[in-house]
Amino acid sequence: MTDQFLWGAATAPHQTEGNNVASDWWRNEQLIPGMERSGDAVDSYHRYREDMQLLVDAGLNAYRFGIEWARIEPEEGHISRAELAHYRRMIEAAIELGLTPVVTLHHFSVPRWFADDGGWMDERALHRFERYVQTVQPILHDVEWIVTMNEPNMLAMMISLTQAAQQAEPGAGSWQSPTVEGGADAADAPDASSLDHSSFVLPDPDPEIGARLVAIHHAARAILRATTSARIGWSVASQALINVGPEDNPELRRLSWVREDLYLEAARGDDFVGVQSYSTQDVDEHGIVAHVPADDDTMVGTAYRPDALGIAVRHTWEVTHGVPVLVTENGIATDDDARRIAYTGGAIEHLFAAKGDGIDVRGYLHWSALDNFEWGHWGPTFGLIAVDRETFVRTPKPSLAWLGAEAARRSAT
Ligand code: BGC
Repeated sequence: MTDQFLWGAATAPHQTEGNNVASDWWRNEQLIPGMERSGDAVDSYHRYREDMQLLVDAGLNAYRFGIEWARIEPEEGHISRAELAHYRRMIEAAIELGLTPVVTLHHFSVPRWFADDGGWMDERALHRFERYVQTVQPILHDVEWIVTMNEPNMLAMMISLTQAAQQAEPGAGSWQSPTVEGGADAADAPDASSLDHSSFVLPDPDPEIGARLVAIHHAARAILRATTSARIGWSVASQALINVGPEDNPELRRLSWVREDLYLEAARGDDFVGVQSYSTQDVDEHGIVAHVPADDDTMVGTAYRPDALGIAVRHTWEVTHGVPVLVTENGIATDDDARRIAYTGGAIEHLFAAKGDGIDVRGYLHWSALDNFEWGHWGPTFGLIAVDRETFVRTPKPSLAWLGAEAARRSAT
């Protein structure tokens, strides 16, 4: 097990691979008005080696990618040996090229059969996820970092929304667009079918759903600890809540717990915790304050806040009581790459200030390696690498080389 600081970039299967046809997201894209379709995505299913090579060429040493449950188990109990071999080839390609793989086992999408037959709140969910983890563990024996679930707190919000939609309309899909709160007029709000964290106010996730996901994460951790030598954790969507209310603000404490800390507390026994940070969120005595659009907003309508990462890492460290931190996502949706460099430079500066204050930070993985399918949208571009969606030709942006140079500079000091 190496202890080198990880410098890399991240992707998720559904957003990059293409043709994830056995998943709930694929199905929903065909059904929900206003959602764009992932289609071929950026064909990383076939082009993963080229993607990895570009990161290596830039001087990065880590790549976070995921295994898609819907490919491994497209029908309940039917395991695809060929897909297991595919993900094993990805792990081997990364290692061969000199990239430390950080492997995510669940990144929002699930097999359709799972979504249609009870989903996460069904009593069989825990056993079903355990069975999936048991199925993939043989290909993970030399992986050093495993993320069991991506952003369980965002997932819990999505489950709450799905439950509400299904109550209103039985048989509705497993994902519905959230309704806009906080005084914003729905017609003026940013498109709410994306998963963006703070440009509109998502409802609080039900803590019962959170408790269910915690149990599932702990069960997966137990299996992976018994069968692999990897460090095990999950990655939490950092809210970087900022108090703009009274100094002692009970609403801040409530929101912080229900939206984030419940999931961070559950990481106390983990080997690391993934921090995913993009922007901040103001809270007053009444709750989340809807962001007032500003000229320097990102392409997904969030505030431009490079300092969010420092706030997120410090909060995570405090709530987890000192679990090592891996930044598993940080980035900006922009079509101006100079802005991406400025944002990322600022964020890394804040990250290293936190590290300098004694926080055990193990790495920085930028979101995203590639411009990709932003959950219902193709518009917002988060990538260090542009992709032509007709030809799939990859074109590194200056920010990719910049991040490699930043990694070299910081590793040398
Ligand atoms: C998710 C990514 C997403 C990113 C940017 C995170 O919520 O893990 O899948 O693309 O934020 O919105």
